Amino acid sequence: MKAAVVGHPIAHSQSPAIHGHWLEATGIAGTYEALDLHPDRFEADIRALVESGFQGVNATVPHKEAALAMADSVDDTARRIGASNTLVFQNGKIEARNTDAYGFWENLAPGLLGQVPKRAVVLGAGGAARAVLVALQDAGVDHITLANRTLSRAQALAEELAETARIDPMTWDDAEDLLNRERTDLLVNTSSRGMKAENPITCALAAQDAQTVVNDIVYTPLQTALLETAAARGCRTVDGLGMLLHQARPAFQAFFGARVTVDRGLRHKVETRMGL
Ligand code: ATR
Repeated sequence: MKAAVVGHPIAHSQSPAIHGHWLEATGIAGTYEALDLHPDRFEADIRALVESGFQGVNATVPHKEAALAMADSVDDTARRIGASNTLVFQNGKIEARNTDAYGFWENLAPGLLGQVPKRAVVLGAGGAARAVLVALQDAGVDHITLANRTLSRAQALAEELAETARIDPMTWDDAEDLLNRERTDLLVNTSSRGMKAENPITCALAAQDAQTVVNDIVYTPLQTALLETAAARGCRTVDGLGMLLHQARPAFQAFFGARVTVDRGLRHKVETRMGL
């Protein structure tokens, strides 16, 4: 059995290490490699992988939209997110799925202690925000504030996803004011701000307390400035590495037919590889 992650570039992908860990743990005689596919040849290269007996691929930047577009069928989650990170090949056909929303929620859920947040503030309106918003909608979060530096992008995304949840668009600055004034049940940063500790998020979170859960999907560094501020205020914090690990579980099951778990060994292995 063969699977791969496809991207451009692909050298920094952790997916081969994650799936390799599970291949070893389950004893399945399969392979999982990293393939650099040029965007101009994406569709032809994917067809060639189908022909050569691959079970499927994970798609990463910049191929997630092209993966959705070329599939013969698309699952509901991938359709709503507008992108696919998992292509499953079966009988010569390609099914597009998206496991990012699942990975986000699996990582977050233990931090919620069984409570579904009523109110959530989401920072950022890019590709990652789409998966987070779909997960929050599916979990039944009543009211979502979507804040973005570029307001028009938040407005467009709020409108697109309005069918299943109330999403209020807002500027980034207004959201910072809101977080200093009113408590929320959940705050998620989906923007790339704070990555590699550049331009960290400096909001004081003055109105947040021990009932607020704060999740940053940025995991370089693991403890971002946002999570440090949140922890100092007594909020419960959830780092972003678990989303990367959990989104791989349904893909592994689809490719290799076995259920797997995110254990300490896997997390430690990926943290070490990434120097976290
Ligand atoms: P991804 O797929 O990782 O979400 P993206 O689609 O490029 O990447 O989106 C990046 C997100 O991070 C956007 O919401 C972006 O805000 P803009 O839409 O205003 O560009 C946000 N972002 C990046 N750098 C930021 C910064 N310095 N301050 C605030 N938001 C930032």
